[in-house]
Amino acid sequence: KQRILTGITTTGTPHLGNYVGAIRPAIEASHDTNNLSFYFLADFHALIKCQAPDLVHQSTREIAATWLALGLNTDNVVFYRQSDVPEIPELCWVLTCMAAKGLMNRAHAYKAAVAANEEAGEDTDFGITMGLYSYPVLMAADILMFNAHKVPVGRDQIQHVEMARDIAARFNHHYGEIFTLPEAVVDDHVAVLQGLDGRKMSKSYGNTIPLFLEEKPLKKHINKIKTNLLEPGDPKDPDDATVFQIWQAFATPEQTQYMRDEFAAGIAWGEAKKQLHALINDQLAEARERYKMLLDDPVHVERELQKGAEKARAYSVPLLQKVREAVGIKPIR
Ligand code: TYM
Repeated sequence: KQRILTGITTTGTPHLGNYVGAIRPAIEASHDTNNLSFYFLADFHALIKCQAPDLVHQSTREIAATWLALGLNTDNVVFYRQSDVPEIPELCWVLTCMAAKGLMNRAHAYKAAVAANEEAGEDTDFGITMGLYSYPVLMAADILMFNAHKVPVGRDQIQHVEMARDIAARFNHHYGEIFTLPEAVVDDHVAVLQGLDGRKMSKSYGNTIPLFLEEKPLKKHINKIKTNLLEPGDPKDPDDATVFQIWQAFATPEQTQYMRDEFAAGIAWGEAKKQLHALINDQLAEARERYKMLLDDPVHVERELQKGAEKARAYSVPLLQKVREAVGIKPIR
């Protein structure tokens, strides 16, 4: 079976970008019986960006409920919390000793932090933890632990999957073939969903539309999407409009063509947003009700995660045993 694996960092409330870029394709892939899927909550990764315990916890709750509300079938997939699998941080250390420092210097997240410091006139290392620096190694451990073939992610994560592949190849070359070389899978159609201001929708930009907003707040958010000054009747360029880009991520090909034509005919921004709201609200209304119920039922959600942890460890314990043997960490005999 093809092993599919992906994770979401437990900082903040899940947004349309996470849904379109990660959760929706992952749930679709899990319906294919040729696949074995591993989906998880990256709560150790959360500590890199968020040192507020309550927020990390709340986000874990919300993201777990999100996957379940959207219909993830936990009998067919392995759905777990990263921190429930102690083999992952252990593997992370072993991989840290195989990961070239120069490779980590090139990681986008680290480079962006260095650049921000330079711009602010700070020392380049200011506020950068070892966690941020080694983030790609922990992610490599997540992926290699389960010998994943395919890693469905948004475009921003491709580099990390490639680093995992590099680290795996280096390990295999040195210690023998243990790890599968993973591949990133990106849906080109909706590679990076834009946020309210037209930049990538991201928790760190504060420009997100949360996935399970109620109908009214959803409308408010959609009304905040940035548009240019064109008036009703002016032909509009769909490929230059966030409203259209988000539409496309939720629409069928026919609906996409329909909206293209409407743009050419000069649809008013208000009308386009009204239709976008209806499209998204219809698709998410049912899951939103389940989401609310799940937030009120922590016992059920925790039970699901414990079941997942047990399933995950049936893979991680034997693999880590192999890794330990391979590197020479074993009982004296
Ligand atoms: P995170 O939590 O930032 O994002 C989770 C997933 O959502 C995708 N995504 C988007 N896709 C399209 N448009 C957007 N605007 C958008 N914003 C976010 C991300 O690409 C990602 O797929 N390091 C990872 C989590 C992680 C992981 C892993 C992923 C930890 N270990 C192992 C895969 C495999 C992260 O911070 O994702």
